Amino acid sequence: MTEVFVCSAAELGEGSVKVVAAGSREIGVIRRKGQCYAYLNQCPHQGGPVCEGVRIPKVETVLNDELQFFGHTFSEDVDHIVCPWHGYEYNLETGVCVGDAGLQLKRYELVEREGGIYVVI
Ligand code: FES
Repeated sequence: MTEVFVCSAAELGEGSVKVVAAGSREIGVIRRKGQCYAYLNQCPHQGGPVCEGVRIPKVETVLNDELQFFGHTFSEDVDHIVCPWHGYEYNLETGVCVGDAGLQLKRYELVEREGGIYVVI
């Protein structure tokens, strides 16, 4: 396994994304709510640059006690990343596609040490 330097930890601020070349592939490193995630910057749908998409909270349906629709709200716990090409949404923590569980982003391990962030390929 090889570690590829991404950037300094300070450079990857809250909500930001850094895309790095790692051999023949691009990997996107995303910091959201203090956590860092690394995914191949290639959407499993048709290859779009998924890591460059917006990150948004999951939209949840609100039901009343009789299970009647009561509106929508944004999740405080679950975030999605939205592919900029066709809008497929992926769970940021797991990489699984929200609309098709058979699609999943390829995830990479990250290492933080001595003020730097490295992706393991
Ligand atoms: S290529 Fe990502 S949604 Fe189509």
